[in-house]
Amino acid sequence: MVFYFTATGNSLYVAKHLDDELLSIPQELNKTNRHYKADRIGIICPLFEFEIPALVKRFICDSEFETNYFYVVVTYGCHHGGVAERTQDFLKSIGREANYININAVAPGATVTPAHLANKAGEQPGGAKMLEYSRHFVYFPGPECDPMDQANACLFLASDMGKHVKGQVIQVCNGAFL
Ligand SMILES: Cc1cc2nc3c(=O)[nH]c(=O)nc-3n(C[C@H](O)[C@H](O)[C@H](O)COP(=O)(O)O)c2cc1C
Repeated sequence: MVFYFTATGNSLYVAKHLDDELLSIPQELNKTNRHYKADRIGIICPLFEFEIPALVKRFICDSEFETNYFYVVVTYGCHHGGVAERTQDFLKSIGREANYININAVAPGATVTPAHLANKAGEQPGGAKMLEYSRHFVYFPGPECDPMDQANACLFLASDMGKHVKGQVIQVCNGAFL
């Protein structure tokens, strides 16, 4: 059982890969009885200014979870700001503890996707306006990677091989910044 909160879809994407039973935190907050029982219960949400969102904290505080394994996955841009420790502190302050909590990031370089190829060919939708405002396209002309390069790094982090890698940003950019 996984509870998710998402603004732009990243956390929902992650949630879909972790469990089949997905429950939206804003929708669950409308219910009066919030007692949940499952072998594993996960909370998946974004990082907002180095914290898990207030709405997610409210949901955790005001719900009961009956489980042997409670975990939290936080998606973020590139600055975790110690959110793992903060979340564990928050859980302790309300008498709970996560069995597993971790935070890592994969930082991509230029990745060959349809959008990247369109940008490269100068075909970015709204490109004229972008040039007017920023004087350049959002196109990074460095060495390219395949999306699978980033996927493999995620696979490593999510597997037993990466289980003790914590709080890291792994650059998968084909040496763009060397
Ligand atoms: C209000 C707000 C605050 C954010 N704060 C951070 C932050 O402190 N550090 C960071 O790395 N990313 C930050 N981000 C980026 C999000 O954590 C990141 O894009 C996340 O994957 C979004 O998840 P979602 O698509 O499920 O909403 C912030 C985004 C928003 C909208």
